[in-house]
Amino acid sequence: MSKTFIDNLEWRSAIKKFDPDKKVAGELLDKIIKAIRFTPSSYGLQPYHVFVISEQDLKDKMKTITFMQPQVGGCSQMLVFCARTDLPARVDQYIEDVSKGDLLAKTKLQGKKLLIMNSIGKKSEEDLLEWSRRQTYIALGFAMAACAELQVDSCPMEGFNPMAMDQLLELPEHLHSVVLLPIGYRAEEPQRDKFRYSNEDLFTNR
Ligand SMILES: Cc1cc2nc3c(=O)[nH]c(=O)nc-3n(C[C@H](O)[C@H](O)[C@H](O)COP(=O)(O)O)c2cc1C
Repeated sequence: MSKTFIDNLEWRSAIKKFDPDKKVAGELLDKIIKAIRFTPSSYGLQPYHVFVISEQDLKDKMKTITFMQPQVGGCSQMLVFCARTDLPARVDQYIEDVSKGDLLAKTKLQGKKLLIMNSIGKKSEEDLLEWSRRQTYIALGFAMAACAELQVDSCPMEGFNPMAMDQLLELPEHLHSVVLLPIGYRAEEPQRDKFRYSNEDLFTNR
């Protein structure tokens, strides 16, 4: 029997050294992108944007921004997960897109808009960014899970300078880089044993 998703979670590892000659392409890359697209989010607003960077020049420029971590230059693609703060406009866009121009559907969605705006509309800019960040991490989780299932290697990364990354990618004001996911294929097997805390440490059954 082929390996299950759970088996592949044991196989996956935060890979530090990618083989620069092996690229993630075509259907595999499409599936990882699909997993991000189908990630659930609060109110369905998907308050993030993901840059999929294949250009070597850009990856090289990211080396100093990521404190020379070795997984950056050799990865196949660098996924840069950014949180959005243009939420009120995004709610309007959501209603426009979901109702597809149908006036009745649009009217029905006004209740949802009120509900959303009552919650996120009252947040400070900082709280809004934090809320979007949390949603963004769920998308990161789904991307890592998809990579594991497809036996594509990845390495989640918070170790970078977000302001420098925003500058490099010339991000508009409403986008903020949050977390990175270089993907590709391992150049060598991980040099360390996998450690996880015990079930007793992590769970309580009642
Ligand atoms: C949110 C997050 C940020 C991380 N940032 C980095 C990083 O900047 N550099 C790095 O080498 N590993 C980073 N890691 C990888 C973790 O160190 C790694 O996942 C953990 O030690 C467990 O090892 P495993 O993923 O190989 O099972 C990060 C992991 C997560 C989930």
